[in-house]
Amino acid sequence: MTKLLITGGAGFIGANFVHYTLAHHPEYEVSVVDKLTYAGNSANLETVLDKVQFITGDICDKELMDRLISDTDIVVHFAAESHNDNSLRDPWPFIQSNIIGTYTILEAVRAHNKRLHHISTDEVFGDLELDDPNKFNEHTAYDPSSPYSASKASSDHLVRAWIRSFGIKATISNCSNNYGPYQHIEKFIPRQITNILSDIKPKLYGTGEQVRDWIHVDDHNSAVHLILDKGQLGETYIIGADNDHVNNKSVIEMICELMGKPADWYEHVNDRPGHDMRYAMDSSKLRHELGWQPRYTDQNGMRDGLLATIAWYTDNQDWWMGDKAETETNYAKRGQ
Ligand code: NAD
Ligand code: DAU
Repeated sequence: MTKLLITGGAGFIGANFVHYTLAHHPEYEVSVVDKLTYAGNSANLETVLDKVQFITGDICDKELMDRLISDTDIVVHFAAESHNDNSLRDPWPFIQSNIIGTYTILEAVRAHNKRLHHISTDEVFGDLELDDPNKFNEHTAYDPSSPYSASKASSDHLVRAWIRSFGIKATISNCSNNYGPYQHIEKFIPRQITNILSDIKPKLYGTGEQVRDWIHVDDHNSAVHLILDKGQLGETYIIGADNDHVNNKSVIEMICELMGKPADWYEHVNDRPGHDMRYAMDSSKLRHELGWQPRYTDQNGMRDGLLATIAWYTDNQDWWMGDKAETETNYAKRGQ
């Protein structure tokens, strides 16, 4: 069995990755290290705790990471502070976890000569104009806008430097906006679904013209597994499902319609400072070189993915209900 250490495995994408790995990749023995910040939830893994070794810990803890990484074969590094709006309020945890945490992992990976896959985001490239026909690819220059995206860009640069200078065995992926089960309700799609379930109108930042290249979390995770299996060491792979034509307003309208509300049953709230306009991903390298195909592609696929996600939040109200009032109170303080 190959030993896999998953950082941030109690968060949204990490927990889905753990479930996906157990369902589709029996060749891996899975361990998770997670600090259980407000975004981490051990309940995300409660049905599989007999199959996974779970360690509560901080990726900035040098001794812990050295010990855990010395005893694994591959590290898949998801752990990060992940929410842009929080990074505008207090950037420090983003500097700490995303930059120092990644540095700490890199040093342990280097010391023990282990394989690393670093999970990153399209936001490192900044944004595109609405009418720009271009998409981000593996050669696009870095131009991050927010403290969150700058901290992720920093972590990517560290990984690239450790590859080039120290020859570590690493790959990087940059993915677009994920949706699916276990996503914290501070994020756009689960916030709107849980608003409707709580009889609160969905909240659209500014005009809602912004475009995100939405991808179902299982499609992200199938791509990560393909990179682990077939990816070239030292390479970066863009992950995206070609959904770069749906703006935030259309997503809210789609959610309202799928949940039996009039399409205009939402309200405009204050915009995000520095709000990125449009993301679009060119994942042809991943598709052509490794043969990846997303399952939930185009607008019809997104409707299916959204329907499944709506069903999950509807069926799992205990999972999110305890966080709802505080999340909305924090947004209301900023007029959002
Ligand atoms: P999340 O906030 O839901 O989960 C992050 C997890 O990391 C949590 O369980 C948290 O407890 C843990 N964590 C945070 N700091 C830690 C630390 N110092 N030590 C140990 N654990 C720590 O985030 P997510 O949306 O699942 O994102 C996971 C990764 O994927 C991040 O690296 C993010 O940048 C990247 N990413 C996210 C998206 C997206 O749409 N959500 C898209 C592309 C890339
Ligand atoms: O692109 C990948 C990134 O996607 C990841 O790196 C981040 O970790 C992840 O959080 C996400 O970042 P965004 O800032 O794009 O996601 P968020 O869910 O916060 O917002 C999506 C869009 O919806 C964005 O344009 C802001 C808007 N929005 C958000 C919220 C919470 C609203 O209109 N209303 C809202 O209530």
